[in-house]
Amino acid sequence: MDKRMKIINEAEAFLRGKLGGITPEVGIVLGSGLGKFGDKIEPIEVIPYKDIPNFVTSTAMGHKGNFIFGKVSGKYVCAMQGRFHYYEGYPMDVVTLPIRVMARLGIKTLFVSNAAGGINTGFQVGDLMIIEDHINTMPNPLIGPNHEQFGERFPDMSCAYDQEIIAKAEEIARKLKIRVRRGVYLANTGPSYETPAEIRFYRTIGADAVGMSTVPEVLVARHCGLKVFGMSIITNEANSIISQVKINHGEDVVRIADEAADKMSKIFTRLVGEL
Ligand code: HPA
Repeated sequence: MDKRMKIINEAEAFLRGKLGGITPEVGIVLGSGLGKFGDKIEPIEVIPYKDIPNFVTSTAMGHKGNFIFGKVSGKYVCAMQGRFHYYEGYPMDVVTLPIRVMARLGIKTLFVSNAAGGINTGFQVGDLMIIEDHINTMPNPLIGPNHEQFGERFPDMSCAYDQEIIAKAEEIARKLKIRVRRGVYLANTGPSYETPAEIRFYRTIGADAVGMSTVPEVLVARHCGLKVFGMSIITNEANSIISQVKINHGEDVVRIADEAADKMSKIFTRLVGEL
């Protein structure tokens, strides 16, 4: 058997054993500082990553490292409280393993969230951005022999982020009086932040926000035929070329993400109910 399939099968079998026959409808990936949404889930099982075969531990700050099965707005969901990043040194198969496993467990929709730097000069720190498209500068996780059991060799990315879900999220945000932006998320490997020249380049090519995650998960989710919805919390201005504000991931990024995470949680909760 393909070694990649073996690691998926082992993780799937373990988690299936914890599900008690339940099929989760939605998978949720909670990024830096966004693990808080985990508190909104009525838990059925909370499983530390270290107990799951072939899962690794997330070394990034603000990532708790639990896989949660539970209910949100009356629907069964599974959530990753913390993700694996390429910059941590994990290969793309490992970074995206949870997505393949959640697809196997039966989810139909994937929600992804992250903390990102704002590139669009109209964005402010603490803004929420619905991801309407992305630009990938990371290695593509689909490189290698195609996983035929999951999807096709050349998956279409012309509509990677589900338009209907975006429209519903915007409607919910309007009702809750939460301001949301829309924009293009650019993923780079990190772990270094961007130079001013890179930010100017990214703005020129159409990016609104930049981060070090999410896109590998989205590419794999689309390969598996899942619908995708994504939101970024703008935790700092990557856009200020002059101010050169020192970014402190330990404090600023996690604290600002925490405040905006409350708003994002409200939108996610309602949205799961309306899927
Ligand atoms: N750049 C890249 N990733 C990030 C940033 C940033 O400015 N802020 C939060 N994650």
